[in-house]
Amino acid sequence: MTDKNELAQIGVVGLAVMGSNLARNFARNGNTVAVYNRSPEKTHALIEAHGEEGNFVPSETIEDFVASLERPRKAIIMVKAGKATDAVIDQLAEAMDDGDIIIDGGNALFTDTIRREKDVAARGKHFVGAGISGGEEGALNGPAIMPGGPKESWETLGPILESIAANVDGTPCVTHIGADGAGHFVKMVHNGIEYADMQVIGEAYQLLRYGAGMEPAEIAEVFREWNSGDLDSYLIEITAEVLAQKDPETGAPLVDIIVDAAGQKGTGRWTAINGLELGVPITGIAESVFARALSSSTAQRSAAQEGQLPAGTIKALDVDKAEFIEDVRRALYAAKLIAYSQGFDEIKAGSEEFGWDVDPRDLATIWRGGCIIRAKFLDRIRAAYDNNADLPALILDPYFKGELEDLIDPWRRVVVAATQLGLPAPVFASSLSYYDSLRAERLPAALIQGQRDFFGAHTFKRTDKPGTFHIEWSGDRSLTQTD
Ligand code: 6PG
Repeated sequence: MTDKNELAQIGVVGLAVMGSNLARNFARNGNTVAVYNRSPEKTHALIEAHGEEGNFVPSETIEDFVASLERPRKAIIMVKAGKATDAVIDQLAEAMDDGDIIIDGGNALFTDTIRREKDVAARGKHFVGAGISGGEEGALNGPAIMPGGPKESWETLGPILESIAANVDGTPCVTHIGADGAGHFVKMVHNGIEYADMQVIGEAYQLLRYGAGMEPAEIAEVFREWNSGDLDSYLIEITAEVLAQKDPETGAPLVDIIVDAAGQKGTGRWTAINGLELGVPITGIAESVFARALSSSTAQRSAAQEGQLPAGTIKALDVDKAEFIEDVRRALYAAKLIAYSQGFDEIKAGSEEFGWDVDPRDLATIWRGGCIIRAKFLDRIRAAYDNNADLPALILDPYFKGELEDLIDPWRRVVVAATQLGLPAPVFASSLSYYDSLRAERLPAALIQGQRDFFGAHTFKRTDKPGTFHIEWSGDRSLTQTD
């Protein structure tokens, strides 16, 4: 139904699949929705196909669109992140009045969001960068939403976003994350965790397929079973679907037909870059980004495959198949736990750096539904932060420490097996090194400090007394205190 005279509670600019699904979601939940797309064909197509699902107010110019919104006006931009977003923000800010709210629902880089928030605020309007997760299906039926921006915008915007968000146990999967870029920052790290989660699932598949010699359909059954336990999650569920799928043309397992070069639009890379900038070791996320890049290094890979690189001694798997499958499940669980722990570390560091005061409990709550990394395990994460909001690391929560007691040996066995089989398991292996580094009483960093002092007089601290010291390496090797 469309009514040109009715004022809309919310507007959507950009009606590609995500935008139109979000508009339909608003409409289906009783909101009158203004819709606008640069080329009007998309607007017409939406109204024609779905106009009966609720109240839509279509416009063909941005001015009409703005005029069709009730005050304070609220418009969500769902266009391709980047320059297009800046252009639409400018048009909206021009046509809107003071106190109106512009929301960017795309996967914007959080530093762009900080800049845009400043610009829009200087023009008297509010700007909210909102991370929206759940893909096309989530946009239509209930995404997880991570809005940043000024708290007062949340007062107006909250109820309307709650009306379309996913809902778990009566709690909507949306909350105000923090000022300016906080929402997009958190969505970025969500995507980094998504990369790591997908990679560890991929490593488990690789080991079962080429280590235990199982067929995709059989592995699909294993994943189905895993989905009823600790690993219960959307990504495990869809993995079983993908592995069970046959290619409609050849009848072969689809996974064997798909080119093994993973794409990426950039959010995982941003998470890794930001981790480096903040000095947070998000090794699982970074390895996952590198693993995608390596998979797409086609020329290098084919040069290496032509028998160019020695494999060394490869040992066949010498374990009971059922035991190996269970070991892989535990290794997957452990590596996934590390990825989340690191992701939460990055959020904590970002929140401190940018003064956002992000509450990890909120994230564990809203990520339980709607988003791509939704998982039963998030209830445990929420409980961990409920018990101690200042946990030094998620893996130090008593429940997860207990889980690690059961996971550690299988995890080590799987990394050994992968190494002996010559199968890559970059996140399984590097997460284990991260874990062992964290637990180590002494790290080789002491030696690195010695080397730095040797070639650059970079000084070092001593274990036995305070101060900063240097050895006269090229002289008499005496010790001097520099500070
Ligand atoms: C989500 C997804 C979504 C998108 C990813 C894909 O939370 O709904 O993360 O934002 O599918 O950006 O990212 P890549 O193309 O980089 O894998």
